Amino acid sequence: MTATTSLIGAPVDRIEGDEKVRGAALYAAEHPVQRPVHVFPLQSDIALGRITGIDTAAAMREPGVLGVLTHENAPRLASTKDAELAILQSPEVAFRGQFIGAVLAETAEAARRAANLVRPSYETRTHDVSLHPARPDLVKPGEVNGGFPTDTDDGDVDGALATAAVVVDATYTTPQEHNNPLEPHATIAMWTDDELTLYDSTQGVHWVRDTIAALFGMEPHRIHVVCPHTGGGFGSKGLPHAHVVLAAMAAQLVAPRPAKLVLTRQQMFSVVGYRTGTIQRIRLGCEASGVLTAISHDVVEQTSRIKEFAEQTAVPTRVMYAAPNRRTTHRLAELDVPVPSWMRAPGEAPGMFGLEVAMDEMAIACGLDPVEFRIRNEPDTDPETGRPFSSRNLVACLREGARRFGWDGRDPAPRAHHDGSWLVGTGVAASTYPVFSMPGSRAIIQARPDGRYRVLIGAADIGTGAWTALTQIAADALGVGMSEVALSIGDTDLPYATGAGGSTGILCWGSAIVDAARRLRTELPAGEPVPDEGVEVTGALPDNPYAGQLSMHSFGAQFAEVRVHTATGELRVPRLLGIFAVGRMINAKTGRSQLLGGMTMGLSMALHEHSVVDPRFGHVVNHDFAEYHIPVNADIGDIEADWIDEHDPYVNPMGAKGIGELGIVGTAAAIANAAHHATGIRVRDLPITLDRFL
Ligand code: MOS
Repeated sequence: MTATTSLIGAPVDRIEGDEKVRGAALYAAEHPVQRPVHVFPLQSDIALGRITGIDTAAAMREPGVLGVLTHENAPRLASTKDAELAILQSPEVAFRGQFIGAVLAETAEAARRAANLVRPSYETRTHDVSLHPARPDLVKPGEVNGGFPTDTDDGDVDGALATAAVVVDATYTTPQEHNNPLEPHATIAMWTDDELTLYDSTQGVHWVRDTIAALFGMEPHRIHVVCPHTGGGFGSKGLPHAHVVLAAMAAQLVAPRPAKLVLTRQQMFSVVGYRTGTIQRIRLGCEASGVLTAISHDVVEQTSRIKEFAEQTAVPTRVMYAAPNRRTTHRLAELDVPVPSWMRAPGEAPGMFGLEVAMDEMAIACGLDPVEFRIRNEPDTDPETGRPFSSRNLVACLREGARRFGWDGRDPAPRAHHDGSWLVGTGVAASTYPVFSMPGSRAIIQARPDGRYRVLIGAADIGTGAWTALTQIAADALGVGMSEVALSIGDTDLPYATGAGGSTGILCWGSAIVDAARRLRTELPAGEPVPDEGVEVTGALPDNPYAGQLSMHSFGAQFAEVRVHTATGELRVPRLLGIFAVGRMINAKTGRSQLLGGMTMGLSMALHEHSVVDPRFGHVVNHDFAEYHIPVNADIGDIEADWIDEHDPYVNPMGAKGIGELGIVGTAAAIANAAHHATGIRVRDLPITLDRFL
């Protein structure tokens, strides 16, 4: 392959695809280690209280059992500040499913069988696990995830609503949902002397290293984390959860033998995070001409009593539409529940469901087409900070999407279109996601006398194509072909990298690689022979001089066609189209797949996902794929994602915006809006199930 700038954007096949198809790509639990001890967690059967005793006698009699770890014999941690991770340090139980121990055995089967024979006894206290708006005593202001202000308030929302020609005032809810990556969370932990090796399924090896080092009171360099491939995470593998601590504790007991812990799908429903349910009151005020005068978004959601996590649900509302009077608030209910965490587009995914359905309701109330209504309320600058956008092409996405979807000439009347027994409708919603940057990533490039280059960075490929995209970025920046570049990622022995989170991966890692390549080309211009000893340079993610001056976000517009059966209420989505503005696309093939994956997860949010909590016991009842529904191929019709030409020289050296999360944002609203167009029934509560239409 010759060096050309067209390498960026090319639909290059995954460089590790062949390894994955052959089963040669190693996932966490597959790393070959000598005589692993198998670890099966013990989980609390109560939602709140304390353990008064644990009878392990029957478990210990099982063949192959090596020991039972409980709070009575567990290693003491150096730091107990993080109550989610500081497991087995006391007999207290803070939520149902919390780890209270583990069985260690020669086989996974023996460990699991023995775990069923352990008999804990408890003193229970009355728990509360229900997110309910009528419990203001539970609700307190929280700091919002991502460092955003909890509340914002501009102008006079109540005054503007009182005098508005048209008002929408409605409550939207989204349920608790669980991350379900294909590869379950898994960790192999191994102590040798005072060093710890972790083969862990993670979105960031250095984040695991640093978190575990603090818990165990170790120098980070004494922990080695390895993860070349991750089978999805969606945020649930962003930071290590308690199972990593449990595996490391178990390994301490059996050292130098490794300890292997693979969570079951059911266990994942209580210990690796989830998306909190949300209750969102949205009030919009409009002039008769369809110009918004007030936007108000008040959110109630839950957090765990032991560790605060505040989903930034109303934050996207701060950037979407112009209006002089605006307000956003977040309030948390502290409950006896597992700790919520990141799930693909935390904040934007639920918040944009509420806002974009409310926008549809307001468009209809004003007698305007919903595409035109959004365009009419497009802001010139960031509506709350007043900063210019580095680029903002929402209108271009709406227009291009409308053109490709065949939106023009749409009859706005609801319940007006039949195809036999099916009611047919179309809907639109906007997408947005911030362009975040996390400082710290570094990359090393080594030029070798044979003309090849090694690129080293502790980045992660969580199934998205980072192996390929980073190789493209490196080859492009060096001015060589991809076959000249050998990339290494997924190992803390490599230069520090931030994790795959907040859709920052390619942006931060790629920028560090581009910086290293520039330094290398200063030392060693292209075409010059490499000295025998080779040349090595280190690059780093540069500070962005525009950060704090420009508002940086990606945008998109999603269009859905929905058919609802008049007799059964069954809802089908034969068509989904997303048009996005994401700066420069690095890899057209893997990038499109990311956007399609996001939209598919958005359809899943619209129609399927709902973690049902039993308030009597505090657990998620439908904790497996039999009952926690996600779409199968038959649920997805004609789905397409594309992007407009967008040039943004301000976001980073590649001009690229993140694409991992944008695709899920807005899909559920587009489907709900299309369902309203089809049936005349407004669904404000997810998921949209067939009973709503009967
Ligand atoms: Mo993403 S939810 O920041 O992994």
